[in-house]
Amino acid sequence: MTRTPLVFGNWKLNLTRAGARAWCAAFREQAQSEPLPHGVWIGIAPTFTSLDAAREGCAGLPVLLGAQNLHWEPSGAFTGEVSAEMLREAGATHVIVGHSERRHIFGESDERIGRKVAAARDGGLIPILCVGETEDEREAGRTEDVIETQLRRGLAGITPRSGAELVLAYEPVWAIGTGKVAQPPQVEEAHGFLRAILAAATGPGIADDARILYGGSVNAGNAAGLARLSEVDGFLVGGASLDPAGFRKIVAAAAAAKG
Ligand code: PGA
Repeated sequence: MTRTPLVFGNWKLNLTRAGARAWCAAFREQAQSEPLPHGVWIGIAPTFTSLDAAREGCAGLPVLLGAQNLHWEPSGAFTGEVSAEMLREAGATHVIVGHSERRHIFGESDERIGRKVAAARDGGLIPILCVGETEDEREAGRTEDVIETQLRRGLAGITPRSGAELVLAYEPVWAIGTGKVAQPPQVEEAHGFLRAILAAATGPGIADDARILYGGSVNAGNAAGLARLSEVDGFLVGGASLDPAGFRKIVAAAAAAKG
């Protein structure tokens, strides 16, 4: 099975509405001077308040829109939360769930992440479920344990009908925003392991079709080497996605490696 690679920019708490418009304008300008590569899907995940500015700014470009979080209930007395329907209305097709910053800074549990994955799926959004071990967990030899638990609990509330409606992101916590990118053998091993767990949980057809992205200090310099790994189906890019030119290079590297 060939999985079209997906490169998603996670803008985190960056880029105002004006910043989102400027990003899209720069990305459009580059695409006009040098067409975007084929054979790769591109996405950006702005803040909630910049979603519609990004939708308008990037209109007509092959850029998918994702949110960075959602609530598991569709509506009600949940001050400060945003539902899947609201995100879809704002133009999102994807939503990042269980990012390590949500887990470690905001204390999100596997159980809550599982409910969010189910809410995304039920609400017509494709969840990008993030899993990854901390440095201490890796050093203690617990990487597989940790990511298996995160994966199984994250998917506990859904029975995927197809792999296309599921994206996983392997993001070792120690590699996020640190400039310490995981080594290719570590990435290949973790992705292969996740796909095997997914196959056991959902069946081989779904596991073969699901995309597994790598995230953690991906940049224009290291993307090509990582994209060549057979188990890497694209990237979730934080810091380096804020620069449209750098992001485009990462997109091009993913397309070239898989083309
Ligand atoms: P980074 O973040 O690329 O800045 O390391 C990746 C992520 O958090 O998704």
